[in-house]
Amino acid sequence: MSRTAGDQRVAVDGRVLAPMGRRRCQIVANRESGGYRVFSALDRDGPTPRAGQFYMLAAAERWGGEDGRPYLPRAFSVALAEPVEGGVRLDFLVEGVGPGTERLAALEPGEALWAMGPLGRPFAHPRELDPELAGAILVGGGVGSAPLAILRAELSAAGIPARTLLGFRDIAHSGGLDLFTCSELRLASEDGHAGHRGLVTDLLAVLLQGDDARSAAVYACGPPAMLEAVRSMCASREVPTQLALETPMACGFGACFGCAVPIAGGGYMRLCVDGPVVTGEEILTALVEGSGH
Ligand SMILES: Cc1cc2nc3c(=O)[nH]c(=O)nc-3n(C[C@H](O)[C@H](O)[C@H](O)COP(=O)(O)OP(=O)(O)OC[C@H]3O[C@@H](n4cnc5c(N)ncnc54)[C@H](O)[C@@H]3O)c2cc1C
Ligand code: FES
Repeated sequence: MSRTAGDQRVAVDGRVLAPMGRRRCQIVANRESGGYRVFSALDRDGPTPRAGQFYMLAAAERWGGEDGRPYLPRAFSVALAEPVEGGVRLDFLVEGVGPGTERLAALEPGEALWAMGPLGRPFAHPRELDPELAGAILVGGGVGSAPLAILRAELSAAGIPARTLLGFRDIAHSGGLDLFTCSELRLASEDGHAGHRGLVTDLLAVLLQGDDARSAAVYACGPPAMLEAVRSMCASREVPTQLALETPMACGFGACFGCAVPIAGGGYMRLCVDGPVVTGEEILTALVEGSGH
């Protein structure tokens, strides 16, 4: 069922298969990135993840206090991954929205982190979606820019041209730009602090009007309303799209059914194993219950 590529076990659908169980990783950096934080962990024994995959993370110490939470690990998209001496350095972009994300945002170098992954289905490259597609348009909203940073790096290494559009609500809900190695980023902000004043989907609408729009696949991650706008804009123009969705996740590997998302044609998928990346046609709506910061 699986083949090996370097240190990776790869399934027939291109997914990098995670080793069983959680691994103890060491925090090697934690820095401010706009209104968010980027923390980095050295994963000594894990494989290099693909863009769009995620990890279930928990601090090894002070994970939950007297009130009992956080207990379960929290799902995190990998924002960048780099093979380094002694393992793979994993970068995560975090927005503190509750006790789990705030504890992870406060991790200090030298502390230990439990990580399970890489999990889930990654983004497919444009030609895997359609042999006619030459390029990519990346659309990120808020902390949802995380998986697009590693996707941008992956596409760049493969020589695939990509245009990147990032949108933020306001200056406090903005960051992660330094994770993008490309020079050309087009920005939108609702408060006007950076780039176009308005929504990132305004920028996408302009690109989709261009003659070459049909030669690119659109990749998006961000708040549900943004993802739904992207899905419907691309569907009406027959532009292939992949969306990285979020739902609350308890296990991350298909056992609890807590991440069920309705699919087009009826029934449900478990987003942790059948996603988190889905094609626009697979779902009726990206307005998934329980998702969004
Ligand atoms: C595949 C995947 C990748 C993710 N990647 C990132 C990432 O790169 N960076 C990042 O900061 N966050 C990411 N998240 C969201 C993150 O897992 C949640 O924000 C986190 O679990 C909240 O835990 P908490 O204890 O801080 O807050 P809680 O007290 O559990 O929740 C605080 C608020 O966040 C909402 N929330 C809880 N879980 C989720 C969720 N899974 N998705 C959306 N909203 C949620 C709740 O409704 C509540 O309003 C990702 C989630 C998934 C499923
Ligand atoms: S999170 Fe448990 S089945 Fe998906």
